[in-house]
Amino acid sequence: MRIDILTVVPELLTSPLNESILKRAQQKGLVEIAVHNLHDYAHDKRKTTDDYPFGGEAGMVMKCEPVFELVEKLQTERRYDEIIYTSPDGIPYTQHEANRLSTLENIIILCGHYKGIDYRIREHLITREISIGDYVLTGGELAACIIADSVVRILPGAIGDETSALTDSFQDNLLSAPDYTRPAEFRGWRVPDVLLSGNFAEIAKWQEAQALERTQRLRPDLLEKE
Ligand code: ADE
Repeated sequence: MRIDILTVVPELLTSPLNESILKRAQQKGLVEIAVHNLHDYAHDKRKTTDDYPFGGEAGMVMKCEPVFELVEKLQTERRYDEIIYTSPDGIPYTQHEANRLSTLENIIILCGHYKGIDYRIREHLITREISIGDYVLTGGELAACIIADSVVRILPGAIGDETSALTDSFQDNLLSAPDYTRPAEFRGWRVPDVLLSGNFAEIAKWQEAQALERTQRLRPDLLEKE
């Protein structure tokens, strides 16, 4: 898989994409992540990527030209399955969408900044708008990191334990069962006996019941989803 991220602040993406599981996934060749600086596609002396909005509102708007030039250059190199724009207006991001994106070959993520982007980019280039939640960030970079992180970690081979991505919270619309590690007793708080029993059928039954109980209690809305 390949993920191209387009931004005016590439520095914001450096560490989240280059440590831990994402770093290893790239080293293993499971994913190629390329970050592009939109300022490199602005041709005036000041490398301007934004301008005042028509209509006189406050704030700046990202210009068409650098975005179209960069996207069209990338499109001469490969076919993209999805060109995503991160925006609070987008569809709410879910595990289901992360799973879907992880099956695609090549995606572009355009990070919004300033007040927004020229609407013609959204109309004529973007194929999907994604919001990571009902709140407003200073820009789309953190949202792009969240999308890349959640997609890459479920690529086969990205995390050591092949089954653990599938037992995550939200796969199956259930929160996960509680996890414990050694010591079996800490400050008088004991790990549930069943987990120490070695009876794997009983452990699986307990985990299932815990997942259901926690979901009913904490996120009953998940149980209504298909
Ligand atoms: N950019 C600013 N706020 C955002 C949000 N909630 N989701 C995605 N991109 C954003």
